[in-house]
Amino acid sequence: MDQTVNRLRPPTAETLDRLEAVVGARYAIRDDETMQPYMVEWRDKYVGRAAMVLRPGSVAEVSQILAIANETLTAIVPQGGNTGLVGGQIPFETGNEVVLSLGRMNTVRGIDAADNTITVDAGCVLEAIQNAADDVDRLFPLRIGSEGSCQIGGNISTNAGGTAVLAYGNTRDLVLGLEVVLADGRIWNGLRRLRKDNTGYDLKNLFIGAEGTLGVVTGAVLKLFPKPKDKATALIGLKAPQKALDLLGLAQERSGRRVTGFELIPRFGIDIVLKHGANMRDPLASVHPWYVLMELSGGGTAGALNDTASEILEHALGHDLVDDAVIAASDAQAGELWRMREVVSEVQKLEGGSIKYDVSVPVSCVPDFIAAVEPACEALEPGCRPIPYGHMGDGNIHCNVSQPIGADKAAFLGRWSEFDEVIHEVVARFSGSISAEHGIGRMKRDFMPMIKDPVELDLMYALKDRFDPNGILNPGKVLPSKS
Ligand code: MLT
Ligand code: ZN
Repeated sequence: MDQTVNRLRPPTAETLDRLEAVVGARYAIRDDETMQPYMVEWRDKYVGRAAMVLRPGSVAEVSQILAIANETLTAIVPQGGNTGLVGGQIPFETGNEVVLSLGRMNTVRGIDAADNTITVDAGCVLEAIQNAADDVDRLFPLRIGSEGSCQIGGNISTNAGGTAVLAYGNTRDLVLGLEVVLADGRIWNGLRRLRKDNTGYDLKNLFIGAEGTLGVVTGAVLKLFPKPKDKATALIGLKAPQKALDLLGLAQERSGRRVTGFELIPRFGIDIVLKHGANMRDPLASVHPWYVLMELSGGGTAGALNDTASEILEHALGHDLVDDAVIAASDAQAGELWRMREVVSEVQKLEGGSIKYDVSVPVSCVPDFIAAVEPACEALEPGCRPIPYGHMGDGNIHCNVSQPIGADKAAFLGRWSEFDEVIHEVVARFSGSISAEHGIGRMKRDFMPMIKDPVELDLMYALKDRFDPNGILNPGKVLPSKS
């Protein structure tokens, strides 16, 4: 049981009534059945309980809720689209916390094509923001598998990554300004649209990636980009990750900053997509040990990047970097290739137990990292099936491990911490990170003392104490209890 959670008080009936009065009975959920979707994440790894789920409709309501929670020492668990992968959005099992679901706050407050900015509520679904940008011929480049249901407040709070980071950066790089409700209910209006602002500490960056432990993000100003007028998408078969790294260098050399996607997938990943995915077909005539999904995009004449991609691939074929490739002939075909990539994590669930990783190493180390991590997994659990796949272009590999065929799922999942030890040791060897884009949440919280410099950790605790002295904001997430 987490000690930070225990320090707080279970909300009394009177507190719950006061909280309900803020949003109205319709948006205060108290019965277990209706609360259920907010209590569990998609892999069923964390199943929590809560005293109540609140669905505020305005920043003012969020402010009143936090003021009451702070006064009554009630724990608040902010939640967006509930697509998080480290349990940060799920309450603990005590039943004493209140979930604050931001989904009703889903208005695009404004869009300015001349400024290349969009101002949104935290509960806006990522895809709705992408579409709003598209409507004014702009691009909001955050692209992740869950974009149809994840919310921007969650993306900001976890500093989400995705498949376009190599070109546009993480969520942190896409935020110009924030509106945040603090633990005591005060509202910080930092909704600035400035590209340059050197006026002291950059507070917004403290809230980005803080997973709701320092404040509740309620609104944001985001960067937009010119919409690429041309795009080329290719699926490429090759022998080894080192060939993929060389191809990345070649593509960047030949197309400048136009490499906007570079995803690595082992054959086993393709096999399970073909086995479990709906309407999937093998995109290349023969089987290859590794695949790269490469996207080039940018301005210019439509079709020109297909020529650039062909040129790159011809050169790569001539130099034994790649063995076969297909360039999508239409947007629909490009969409099919991206869908193959995006469902990898989802279909892995259908292969039995899987132990998930979200690690990063310097891009140039990806081949050596994979070469080291696969045998390390095999030595620990013979027959296990690692799928090191993902965002090779930025060094973020999801080194998920599927159970051996026919193994007992529970027994395999019971070895999670042994896999942690083995995989994190390899990550450390390459000076990598054990959480590249999913965050810390509950899942990786207890690793913090091992992976952070003591000074850094001290500063983090100091920030937490200053921003949330009563510890009401997402207690027990990101930072372990000090005692
Ligand atoms: C992905 O890139 O597919 C996800 O971040 C990985 C995951 O769901 O583990
Ligand atoms: Zn990912």
